[in-house]
Amino acid sequence: MGEGLQKGKGRELTHVHTSPISACMSLKSIITLPDEKILRQKSAALKTVDAGARKLFDDMLDTMYHAPGIGLAAIQVGVPMRQVVMDIAKEGEDKKPLFLANPEIIWSSTQLNDYEEGCLSIPEFYEMVERPAEVNVRYLDRNGDAQEIHAKGIIATVLQHEIDHLNGILFIDHISRLKRQRVIKKFKKADKLGKL
Ligand code: NI
Repeated sequence: MGEGLQKGKGRELTHVHTSPISACMSLKSIITLPDEKILRQKSAALKTVDAGARKLFDDMLDTMYHAPGIGLAAIQVGVPMRQVVMDIAKEGEDKKPLFLANPEIIWSSTQLNDYEEGCLSIPEFYEMVERPAEVNVRYLDRNGDAQEIHAKGIIATVLQHEIDHLNGILFIDHISRLKRQRVIKKFKKADKLGKL
């Protein structure tokens, strides 16, 4: 038993040197404007939530926390599958990750709500967007079990924003044409300059 304890201790010491976070983290690069070709793709439904889908969920969550962001769709890391990760917990609060496969809005309120939205694919751009204030969403969780949630407030907004991504829709599609064209132009210009 003593030897076992010693071994255990030794293992713990190794962990001091290899941070458990960096050891299991797998960060993906996030696709941003002006790369609309990928972001405008419609994502495909999952047949089952298998080990590959779970690995993608985990990598997406690490990538989202690292960004940092509160929601991320698979297409934003270049995978056209209907998978979303979210966590609206504030800094200092316990993490509450949500994994959604094939999320579907099955009801939305007629009452609308305004939120200032941003997107990891459109860095440093924020604009007010009006959407239904409440939604019911059906999805498969990380285990592949069917779930249904009723959401209001910021979680309802994030759900709608992320489900839009699965259909190739960006939040700038909900703002005025002039503002949208201006932001797309800004990213095209920055991209061009970066390539010089
Ligand atoms: Ni987004």
